[in-house]
Amino acid sequence: MAVLKGKRILLGVTGSIASYKAADLASKLAQLGAEVDTVLTAAATQFVTPLTFQSVTGRRAYLDADLWGNEGHVLHVRLGKEADLVLVAPATANTLAKLAQGRADNLLTLAAITGSAPLVLAPAMDGDMYTNPATQANLARLAERGAHILGPQSGHLASGLSGVGRMVEPAEIAAQTRYLLTRDGPLGGKRVLVTAGGTQEAVDPVRAISNRSSGKQGYALAQAALDAGAEVTLVSGPTALAAPAGAMLRPVRSAEEMLAEVLEQAKNSDALLMAAAVADFRPKSSASQKIKRAGGAPQIELVANPDILAAVGKARGKRLKAVVGFAAESQDLLKNAQQKLKAKKVDLIVANDISAADAGFEVDTNQVVLVSKQGVEELPLMSKDEVARAVIERLSSMLL
Ligand code: C5P
Repeated sequence: MAVLKGKRILLGVTGSIASYKAADLASKLAQLGAEVDTVLTAAATQFVTPLTFQSVTGRRAYLDADLWGNEGHVLHVRLGKEADLVLVAPATANTLAKLAQGRADNLLTLAAITGSAPLVLAPAMDGDMYTNPATQANLARLAERGAHILGPQSGHLASGLSGVGRMVEPAEIAAQTRYLLTRDGPLGGKRVLVTAGGTQEAVDPVRAISNRSSGKQGYALAQAALDAGAEVTLVSGPTALAAPAGAMLRPVRSAEEMLAEVLEQAKNSDALLMAAAVADFRPKSSASQKIKRAGGAPQIELVANPDILAAVGKARGKRLKAVVGFAAESQDLLKNAQQKLKAKKVDLIVANDISAADAGFEVDTNQVVLVSKQGVEELPLMSKDEVARAVIERLSSMLL
């Protein structure tokens, strides 16, 4: 999905063994639609070649020789000024030192100080080089000036030692870059609250009653809202998914925990997307000790959980302009969705028929109907990411 279409990234690759991972990073950024101009330092070419980057970005990769080449002496100015973001990954101790000082003795460091684009640095070096006071001072200086410093992480290092110095994984750098480059989207400045996943209702300290929600649709909504420029708070039940970069994750377990968190966060939100599969019932009480098999099958009495959407509807503050509910139905989809629209006082219901094999729980696709006062819009079978983008597009028209 070309979320970074039209965005220019100047990717600086410096002389670290992690530069082989920079090719994967360049590929990921290109797949997101960005125009990636790569500049390799002389030391980087000991590990990788311009062709590596040209092959994955479809654009020229530059060397110091190009500074004096036939494009004239202003190549560095063009590369620096046209960039929406300058990303140096891997960033060696040497390049960090140059950037901290504003030195400009090669094409990359020269280009880096000609523009005013945000600077993102992913340091990679051996542990002792990273902890060296000079490197730390350089990083502190760069951070003070507004550079975004990602990592480094700890783990296995090329020296054979283990410590802090590994470059952050390309997927994570690409995700952070995606976040930074999408702040100017149509939902820029808006706060969107998303709930996702199923809740767990404790039976005893080990067991819980839950449901088959994977959280995929809710997490896709959070990503789509971030891509549209919103600040996103993601209130999530337990899932196997990683929160999208830039989202503020608020993990919860039970419906009651989710209710408290949603009511709190809704005060400062412009929109609520209630995609979580909230358990309608919970055990009346949770045993304080693990229930023993020897005691025989227990009788578990259930009580109703609070309806979070209804509670938000009642306590709706001035800021909350759009509330979106989700309805997973196994029969009478439209009738039930229309009823919920009224009963829960929401602005939009995203309804799906969970009896279809390729829609709803666990799978990656979904087929939904958007139901609002304005009417009914049936969307075709789509990936959950596409459904999320369609819902966020609708949300944008509600908020703007
Ligand atoms: O009535 P039903 O559970 O099908 O409604 C689904 C919608 O209501 C979803 O948006 C879900 O997140 C929300 N819900 C809620 N609190 C509950 C149960 C569902 O907010 N206790």
